[in-house]
Amino acid sequence: MLMQAELYGNDRAFTAFHTVGPETDLQALNLNWRESDLPQRERTKHVHGLHPYLGKFIPQLVEIFLRKYARRAVVDPFAGSGTTLVEANALGLAACGCDISYFNCLLTRVKTGEHDLDLLERELKDILVRAELRAFAARARRAEPGVTGYLAEWYAPEALIELLAYRELIPGYRHREVLQVVLSRAARSARLTTHFELDFPKEPQREPYYCRKHHRVCRPTTRALPFLRRYTYDTLARLREFAAVRTGAPVEVFWGDAREVRFPAHDTVVTSPPYLGLIDYHEQHRYAYELLGLPELRDKEIGRPEKGNGARAAREYYEGIKAVFANVARSLEPGGHVVIVVHDRGEMYFEMARELGFAVEAVLERHVNRRTGRRSGEFFERVYVWKKER
Ligand SMILES: C[S@@+](CC[C@H](N)C(=O)[O-])C[C@H]1O[C@@H](n2cnc3c(N)ncnc32)[C@H](O)[C@@H]1O
Repeated sequence: MLMQAELYGNDRAFTAFHTVGPETDLQALNLNWRESDLPQRERTKHVHGLHPYLGKFIPQLVEIFLRKYARRAVVDPFAGSGTTLVEANALGLAACGCDISYFNCLLTRVKTGEHDLDLLERELKDILVRAELRAFAARARRAEPGVTGYLAEWYAPEALIELLAYRELIPGYRHREVLQVVLSRAARSARLTTHFELDFPKEPQREPYYCRKHHRVCRPTTRALPFLRRYTYDTLARLREFAAVRTGAPVEVFWGDAREVRFPAHDTVVTSPPYLGLIDYHEQHRYAYELLGLPELRDKEIGRPEKGNGARAAREYYEGIKAVFANVARSLEPGGHVVIVVHDRGEMYFEMARELGFAVEAVLERHVNRRTGRRSGEFFERVYVWKKER
């Protein structure tokens, strides 16, 4: 087993991603990207920036491991927002992913699916105009949004009327899931929240407030249409950009528990598992669940913060992650690799590999602070490479 050498010097980070192949020595690459090496617009290129998602990994990191190890078919049991599946497809590899969050699966389907882009453009523009007219008519009638609970609590009445007008029109179109993603993204931006709490706002913000992000007084938004308009054009541009590199390789997305799903035969896994007690992946997109009425499987989410991070939760978490890799291993070809990206130390992956009969072929450590400008020595990401020997 090789540990990656000290790589935090001043040498330039590696960015010639397309040159990576089966012979590339990954240990020799400096993957400690600074913002200037790998700017945000590159990390969120085309469909990777289609919708916010907390806990994504860097597409270029995935690309490197796919180019190095994958031959025909790739699996990501914790597909999240679909980064692995998008990158695999662009490289012409068959891809299959699974996620416990229905919204994440919806987002991944939209990112990886083949769309009739001209029809989609007409539909996106049409629904926008019709939603605007519908909202205008509702306002003229002084209609109340007519909903209670989360939606009434987290949106100004005007914004809610606009979101509901758009939602009601979606069933009349062919690209319903794309429209749902546009609506969800607008709904995220239109919540009554501060600019610095967009990921997990604690309570609705109805009054002007001092904004820690912009260093001035900001006001919570009262409208949704400006966001619907902006994301309509952004979505179209991103889907068009990806269509130019998209291949015809098959993509499958399973909504369910990765411990139970039957994955197709594959030669490589590239994944980043959830952490213990850190992110609630259903709650993260609560607005989408509420507005779109999506089904939930919260109890099966591994590492859910609600369960805490005590000894019992930690044991359950370990067993959960291990059961996923045991399940994935059933359809992984002998000689195939499992690439696991984890934050910080994640020592459990040595023990787990041994228990599951994988060899730990390499461990790479990436310095993540460089990107965010945080003090050095604080934040690392590890990449474990397991090999199935028999
Ligand atoms: C760290 S995120 C993956 C992010 C992904 N690499 C990306 O770039 O978007 C972990 C994912 O595991 C999912 N997850 C948690 N428990 C699961 C389970 N039992 N089965 C399948 N997915 C699960 C979460 O919903 C979350 O999307």
